[in-house]
Amino acid sequence: MHDYIESIPDFPEEGIIFRDITPLLANGPAYHQATEQIAHFAKERGVTVVVAPESRGFLVGAPVAENLGLGLVPARKAGKLPRKTLAETYQLEYGSAQLEMHVDAIKPGDKVVITDDLLATGGTIEATIKLVEALGGEVVGLAFFIELTALKGRDRLKGYDIYTLMTY
Ligand code: PRP
Ligand code: ADE
Repeated sequence: MHDYIESIPDFPEEGIIFRDITPLLANGPAYHQATEQIAHFAKERGVTVVVAPESRGFLVGAPVAENLGLGLVPARKAGKLPRKTLAETYQLEYGSAQLEMHVDAIKPGDKVVITDDLLATGGTIEATIKLVEALGGEVVGLAFFIELTALKGRDRLKGYDIYTLMTY
């Protein structure tokens, strides 16, 4: 699976090695296999809804939700959702951002798997977890194509069930 990831030094800024998933997305069988494995992980944990942060998270969450016949709830960047939202600000490996979810997006008793393309510092997923839990959801799993182990996102997300297909 690593064969489908391109590593670009100094993007988007000096010192960052950007792990580009677009070759994986462009390969039908590889993309299918990757999302199928995450769907399997999610199903085993009794998932009832998939939550994905904008924007690369959608590319993982949408096929997983569709595969399982479940709904997808997007956590969107600030100012994009049209109805009443809950917001959470977070720091990134580069810069800071805010995520929002509609306040009625999660139903009581929902078992949530959160998906994203990549786990770096864990800031994005920590913010998404806070939103899901504040709305009454139970986070039963976190799933990613890639984990950047040196950034220790896993330590930040202690206590959660984390599944990753590739590590760097
Ligand atoms: C990237 C990536 C993850 C996040 C990982 O998203 O898709 O969501 O960074 O970093 P973290 O673990 O340190 O939070 P980015 O915010 O660059 O937005 P994008 O998906 O719109 O490209
Ligand atoms: N998001 C945060 N860090 C990243 C990296 N090194 N490559 C791709 N996406 C990222």
